[in-house]
Amino acid sequence: TEPARVFSGIQPTGIPHLGNWLGALRNWGALQASHECLFCLVDMHAITMPWTPAALRRNTLESAACLLASGIEPGRLYVQSAVSAHARMGWLFDCVVRLGWLNRMTQFKDKAGKNRENHSAGLYIYPALMAADILATGATLVPVGDDQRQHIELTNDIAQKFNHDMGVEFFKPVEALIPPQAARVMSLRDGGKKMSKSDPSAQSRILLTDSADEIAQKIRRAKTDPEPLPAEPAGLADRPEARNLVGIYAAVADSTPDNVLAAFAGKGFGDFKKALADLLVAKLAPISAETSRLLQDEGHVRAVLRQGAEQARTITDPITDRAEGLVGF
Ligand code: ADP
Ligand code: NA
Repeated sequence: TEPARVFSGIQPTGIPHLGNWLGALRNWGALQASHECLFCLVDMHAITMPWTPAALRRNTLESAACLLASGIEPGRLYVQSAVSAHARMGWLFDCVVRLGWLNRMTQFKDKAGKNRENHSAGLYIYPALMAADILATGATLVPVGDDQRQHIELTNDIAQKFNHDMGVEFFKPVEALIPPQAARVMSLRDGGKKMSKSDPSAQSRILLTDSADEIAQKIRRAKTDPEPLPAEPAGLADRPEARNLVGIYAAVADSTPDNVLAAFAGKGFGDFKKALADLLVAKLAPISAETSRLLQDEGHVRAVLRQGAEQARTITDPITDRAEGLVGF
């Protein structure tokens, strides 16, 4: 039997950050050795919120370079809008998903806030497009951060309803692969918010392109509290910012919060932040350097994306043709 196929995506709405890396990108790289993988820069998702065309074009190119620098192999990476199967399958799913299901999605509520009426319909139906992204590739494994759990559940609901309505077992169930540590990295400025590209504060996140000095400065300025580090994770229960930094350290060092605290118990955050910054610089500096190198030849990066799209179409188009046949097209 063939190994399960892997699919995941990232929005080219800014430079990928430490949360994207720990929650997703690092695992994408690792899965390539054992699985057939497709990874996507989801530019169609990026226009569900206000955007500028020039910034989107730039972010798509720079995100591609970052992903290649993070170890994604050429031929597996492509841009969503270059593969029309995503839009075609997306429409089928817009007609399968129920409004009641979309009303329960927390990401829409988070992003739309109180001003719901003024957001695009695209933001509202985004989860159906995400289901299409996954199912059009025939993937069954989806490496994502913890914030995507609800979207993966909805993907299975859509797949099941499609199968039921069409009377065939066409789509297989999909499974989220969520990392055990730092599945949800929080903002460096507010332990109650996740680290995100859309956070207006540049101090809230570490970018994969940050210099050693920028990393050290952001960690130094990261919000904490005056207490020393406790001996056990239980001592971090009501200290979200401290817990976040310990979680980041554990994930980056391939360790656990227990082990990290065993090493730093009783120390102040001055010492801990220094060690954390050194660890992050050691891991991220090679990615940053390789991203800059790749961006010296933009034509090459674009060619890699075109080749990835060609490769993806050979997988997505037959699946999408069959799905359209099932609905009566
Ligand atoms: P963002 O919210 O920063 O725009 P995306 O929506 O493009 O990020 O998410 C790309 C991938 O990165 C997804 O798998 C998502 O789960 C993961 N991810 C995003 N933010 C975080 C975070 N703060 N911690 C862990 N994983 C994250
Ligand atoms: Na997100």
